[in-house]
Amino acid sequence: MDLIVTQDGSHSIFAEQYGVTYHSKYGAVTESAHVFIDAGLRMKAVVQSDLTILEVGFGTGLNAFMTWLEAERRNLKIDYYGIEAYPIEPEAARQLNFADLLEVPQRQSDLLRLHTCAWGRKVQMSDHFSLHKKQARLETFLTTKRFDLIYFDAFAPQAQPELWTEGIFRRLFNYLNPDGALVTYCAQGHFKRTLKHVGFEVERLAGPPGKREMTRAWK
Ligand SMILES: C[S@@+](CC[C@H](N)C(=O)[O-])C[C@H]1O[C@@H](n2cnc3c(N)ncnc32)[C@H](O)[C@@H]1O
Repeated sequence: MDLIVTQDGSHSIFAEQYGVTYHSKYGAVTESAHVFIDAGLRMKAVVQSDLTILEVGFGTGLNAFMTWLEAERRNLKIDYYGIEAYPIEPEAARQLNFADLLEVPQRQSDLLRLHTCAWGRKVQMSDHFSLHKKQARLETFLTTKRFDLIYFDAFAPQAQPELWTEGIFRRLFNYLNPDGALVTYCAQGHFKRTLKHVGFEVERLAGPPGKREMTRAWK
């Protein structure tokens, strides 16, 4: 695993297979906070304290970790479902500096628990946060569960065009509860037209450092 340091000091991984990093080079923690926590979780938490979240691309567990911390701060109850085709090794997760960067060094063991806990079933991590990790490819992922929020954190369309298709977003649209939302760092025109085509109401928001825009889409 190629660990890199992004501009805010937080780690990310370089995925050789796709020639891209797991997070923005301008800051992994900064991007995650901006796109998924601020534009996704905080916005939904205003109206709802009990939430189900689907993450596409569990990766380093950064989004899950920050969601767990936020659930505790805001007294939320979150069922988090993360799908990942190629899980990282717990030994790799042990090296990630997210707990230090987020000024919760005492939670390093919880970050690691996100990686060492069982796959394929729901694990109650705390009173505020449960995690169900599923090792699966998005292309073949089917579920009867319904979600309030989707963190769409696949590699970019240029790297993985097969994950940004109309068929995939139609399926994700169906997996959302009424008034559910999907957030992602991507703001490409073709992608937004695809979202509209399957029925989403699409919002353009200011992006994290290094990106002019990001997308939030409503069912
Ligand atoms: C941009 S990274 C995700 C970053 C992650 N959310 C984090 O905080 O570390 C994309 C992730 O999607 C995973 N992935 C790649 N192809 C996939 C597929 N077909 N289905 C599901 N996940 C996939 C990669 O292994 C990687 O972990």
